[in-house]
Amino acid sequence: MPINVETVEVTTDLLLVGGGMSACGAAVEASYWAKKNGLKVTLVDKAAMDRSGAVAMGLSAINQYLGVGKGKNTVEQYVDYVKQDMMGIARDDLVYNIARHVDGTVHLFEKWGLPIWKDENGDYVNEGRWQIMINGESYKVIVAEAAKNALGMDNIYERVFIIEPLMDGDRVAGAVGFSVREEKFYVFKAKAVMTCMGGAVGVFKPRSTGEGLGRSWYPPFSTGSSAYFTLRAGAEMTCQEVRFIPVRFKDAYGPVGAWFLLFKSRATNAFGGEYMVERKDELKKWGPYGQVKPIPANLRNWLGMLDESEGKGPLYMRTEEAIQKIADAYKDDQKAFKKKMKELESEAWEDFLDMTIAQALLWAATNTEPEKKSSEICAAEPYFIGSHSGATGAWVSGPEDIAPAEYNWGYSNMTTIKGLFAVGDASGASAHKFSSGSCTEGRIAAKAAIRFIVENNDQPNVDAAKVEELKELTFRPMNLFEEHKDFTTDPEINPNYILPKMFMFRIQKCMDEYVGGVSSNFTTNESKLNRAMELLEMMKEDSEKLGARNLHELMRCWENIHRMWQAESHTRTIMARKETRWPGYYFRADYPTIDEDNWKKFVNIKWDPSSNEWEIIERPVIDLLK
Ligand code: FAD
Ligand code: ADX
Repeated sequence: MPINVETVEVTTDLLLVGGGMSACGAAVEASYWAKKNGLKVTLVDKAAMDRSGAVAMGLSAINQYLGVGKGKNTVEQYVDYVKQDMMGIARDDLVYNIARHVDGTVHLFEKWGLPIWKDENGDYVNEGRWQIMINGESYKVIVAEAAKNALGMDNIYERVFIIEPLMDGDRVAGAVGFSVREEKFYVFKAKAVMTCMGGAVGVFKPRSTGEGLGRSWYPPFSTGSSAYFTLRAGAEMTCQEVRFIPVRFKDAYGPVGAWFLLFKSRATNAFGGEYMVERKDELKKWGPYGQVKPIPANLRNWLGMLDESEGKGPLYMRTEEAIQKIADAYKDDQKAFKKKMKELESEAWEDFLDMTIAQALLWAATNTEPEKKSSEICAAEPYFIGSHSGATGAWVSGPEDIAPAEYNWGYSNMTTIKGLFAVGDASGASAHKFSSGSCTEGRIAAKAAIRFIVENNDQPNVDAAKVEELKELTFRPMNLFEEHKDFTTDPEINPNYILPKMFMFRIQKCMDEYVGGVSSNFTTNESKLNRAMELLEMMKEDSEKLGARNLHELMRCWENIHRMWQAESHTRTIMARKETRWPGYYFRADYPTIDEDNWKKFVNIKWDPSSNEWEIIERPVIDLLK
């Protein structure tokens, strides 16, 4: 190998891969149970935990809080809400398991120092039924601190990008990766591994191109590593077709939740029409799910998309109208009115400053005063995020006390691979966990993983030759570049390698045009999907020629390989499901309706490491609530 890379070997009991919300929850809980059993827990994150993952910039709300003790809601009601929002496709057992424990996690956040909005009675201020408001700029720093205290810095590896799982037959044995700062190859050997590497951005061409490239709703840090890792271990995946398309403030992707729920804003089209009202009849076409409240996220999207396709855009969030309406209640007292207007104005800005600073900058840059002027909203490009209103992730075992036999194989959140757990965005069919639920799921799985280790307390074997092979593979892009860089005068143009940025554009163009991205109006069909598969096959071949000028680009190379696998499992699964169930996420023009009789089921997928074959597996949706 021309570049000189040191190998660092770390042997541990439980390896947490990722340092986001779910990993932090897992770290806190695992440390507690590990101490009791004399075990070691190690965490590895590609970034610095204080600001890594989707909560890096902060959040303005905690989107899952039930307030069960306060008699507000029941766990069953949450399960019902999630199931309906996901158009009938969800694992009740997993959603239930998180929902019954989530309030305790939120109380821990408060104990760790997170400021949560309180009303005059000292109760949390709700944004919507399930969401509570926070001053969350430092949310991730606070949660990461708890995780760091629990683990100890000696057990944390930051800025190490994880690539592949290590296997010992049918059991996971660890993971390999490389430092993005030093020429070091890391080999982690573990008795159990938890995948917590978030979802995926940049699989589809973003709306933000050119000058805006790099801006997206989903943060740029997570690029499909969770899906890649579990797929490569041979784990069964679920809901790979259930991508998420958020409707967001245009161009800077500011969140809409506070506007719709807290400020009770309307969204209207260019002609002042309210698509949620004018298109009510459309909802009748989408089975029982069009009739539930709240209307499922994808159907809300769909109604707006219909307006856009008929040329009625742009769509607007009527911020000025919403603010005025709330303040009007105070209009008899000019002083109180003015005070309320100021308060609403600052809440409007804080919502963005807490979690999407770019949107506040865009408002400032475009002289937008939300109390005076509406802002454009639109559907973003698709993302993979199993913890929000999408459901992609690994197929994991449910809790022993409530999961039916079809959903249970022993340890909560263990994938179909022995010793390999998945949580947060990495575990599927349990949407709407958000930050609090992901952290909760990490806690649940950590306890189960420690039990797994106690009951299977032997160190799996790691094949040294395989490790060497992986090391060679990991650094191949840098070696390829070194070997061929002098062939041309411009390092960006060279017939012997492709740089990762260009490769990313290839994936994104293919997915955008053939698998229903923005430019194809989120619409696809079998012929387009087949074409995408042909192109992806070629990309797979070309990925062996990725070149990297430095460690940063090496990370970019691997991010794109991970994206490519997420893209493939998505395309294959959309192809297998012959109906349109989530029209506001994607529309299959050749099967334009929902088909409850034949497709109210999970369409799972698996890649077999020994045969290199993909398999579609249909699994039943079992309703636990009657
Ligand atoms: P993350 O918290 O995203 O963590 C992923 C981790 O994996 C990171 O540490 C990352 O560095 C690491 N990683 C990725 N790839 C690798 C690799 N190859 N090797 C090593 N490490 C890797 N929830 C709310 O409750 N309220 C909100 O207001 C809210 N707003 C949101 C806004 C946005 C834009 C997004 C994207 C999400 C929002 N959520 C919100 C949801 C919440 O952020 C997620 O549910 C939660 O962060 C998921 O936790 P996770 O651990 O799965 O992933
Ligand atoms: S966030 O992740 O960036 O905060 P968003 O602002 O869309 O997402 O939503 C926050 C929460 O409000 C989520 O629980 C979402 O499901 C919910 N939500 C957003 N808009 C609506 C709406 N119009 N009706 C019901 N719930 C909504």
